Amino acid sequence: MQIKSAEFVMSNSDVAKCPKDRLPEYAFIGRSNVGKSSLINMLMQRKSLAKTSGRPGKTQLINHFLVNKNWYLVDLPGYGYARVSKTAKKTFQKFITNYFSKREQLVSAFVLVDCRHEPQTIDLEFMHWMGENQIPFSIVFTKADKLKPKALSRNIEAYLQKLLETWEEAPQYFVTSATSSEGRDELLQYIDSINDSIHSA
Ligand code: GTP
Ligand code: MG
Repeated sequence: MQIKSAEFVMSNSDVAKCPKDRLPEYAFIGRSNVGKSSLINMLMQRKSLAKTSGRPGKTQLINHFLVNKNWYLVDLPGYGYARVSKTAKKTFQKFITNYFSKREQLVSAFVLVDCRHEPQTIDLEFMHWMGENQIPFSIVFTKADKLKPKALSRNIEAYLQKLLETWEEAPQYFVTSATSSEGRDELLQYIDSINDSIHSA
């Protein structure tokens, strides 16, 4: 898919105030600092469409970006970031779970995990919650540029094995890097094929 246009539409903390049109949307979620905003910029080939930072807790609202005037990308705050105050953290969790349970336009989510780390409880719990609530998602391994190919495939294999302890099938997954653009074509192709199937339904 060619990206012809990508524009910021709005930020808010209330799912009821998100765009009202019925365009399909795809949301990026995962722990703070995992690379959600960077991945969106990489996909859109725009340096700072979504705001990024080396310090976790940068994205604090639900951000809608309209792509090619016919679908949305949604950048969300990270979960599980201890340094924001407890109250703020609760608010994030609440509007994140609200967003996922109430947003009918959501077609699929991407749960991002850093390819360097072993499976983290909070991510596994989040995926479990998505499964229980029947919200479709795939996994996106981020920061692939930080590992050598062998270590990368070893980590991904170990991650999938861990998932297979509780899931009958491992979800679809993508391996990406915001610095090298690895995985860009695959991810966009995936979104494109879902959009096509929606339009022809
Ligand atoms: P929050 O909004 O705080 O939840 O974080 P986020 O998940 O949006 O992460 P963000 O995109 O802001 O990136 C966090 C840090 O990781 C930044 O310093 C990025 O430059 C870095 N980063 C993100 N993706 C990659 C990647 O693929 N490779 C490398 N080397 N660094 C990355
Ligand atoms: Mg962010």
